[in-house]
Amino acid sequence: MQFKGRDVISIRDFTKKEILHILDTAKYFDSGNYKEHMQGKIMASLFFEPSTRTQLSFGTAMKRLGGKVISVSDPSTTSVAKGETLFDTISMVDRYADIIVMRHPVEGASRFAAEAAQKPVINGGDGANQHPTQTCLDLFTIQKAFGKIDGLKIGFVGDLKYGRTVHSLATALTHFKTEMMFVAPETLAMPKEYLDELDSKKIKYTVTEKIEDIINDVDVLYVTRIQKERFPDPMDYEKVKGVYIIKKKLLKNAKKTMRIMHPLPRVDEIAPEIDQTPHAIYFEQAGNGIPIRQALICLVSGVIE
Ligand code: CP
Repeated sequence: MQFKGRDVISIRDFTKKEILHILDTAKYFDSGNYKEHMQGKIMASLFFEPSTRTQLSFGTAMKRLGGKVISVSDPSTTSVAKGETLFDTISMVDRYADIIVMRHPVEGASRFAAEAAQKPVINGGDGANQHPTQTCLDLFTIQKAFGKIDGLKIGFVGDLKYGRTVHSLATALTHFKTEMMFVAPETLAMPKEYLDELDSKKIKYTVTEKIEDIINDVDVLYVTRIQKERFPDPMDYEKVKGVYIIKKKLLKNAKKTMRIMHPLPRVDEIAPEIDQTPHAIYFEQAGNGIPIRQALICLVSGVIE
């Protein structure tokens, strides 16, 4: 397995063995190991789209590793506002930093940035496409909660059309023996290309618009926000907003061991009354972003193998 110098653009770029190695490496950091593996190194954090968790957890991870962070979180304050191309921006940042983390609203922007850069580029989310580091932390969270990934029934709820975290996680889960259930309004259904991939790998899945069809059967309920910002027509958002709201009464007959995950941020799709139940693990999930990002930073930098 060779991680040194690699980009992290899509979860598809990694084998099952490599994904499991990332999770094992995260376990090492999660056990409280804070060696300064990245001392003297600089991470450029380029966020051309809003972010709380991804941006802050990458920054925290790098700093806990003894490295430093330079960042752009408001592109309007940079030369992008003067019309500088992404290629030029990345070519320059490549000379300033040892590793580049980027979020961008355009699908494929991270792949493009990786081609412009010599240093490793990590995709912090590109449009509705992929969010591979979120996927690693999602898998890590499932593994921590259940001690396994195989054998679980995983239900995805909400914006499955534009949800990059759903796309990445469903792709990653094809490496494991899981059953997937997709719950979305017709206009936000899981894209055909992902279902075709499940078909080609003979992975069992169901598609429904009703959360009641799956709620008592799932081990993991992966809830996502209906992403207002991704709708080309705001009227289409109005038709589906608030379509799924997870409340205690919905969970009456759910498995006691069922766990609710959410990449966050949430709006109203999980009622606050769920937060204190044993089902809720979404804040732990967000916390798992730190060991996972420590692992990825160290692996692609080649400071650990
Ligand atoms: N889960 C996630 O990507 O959150 P942010 O948009 O806050 O980074």
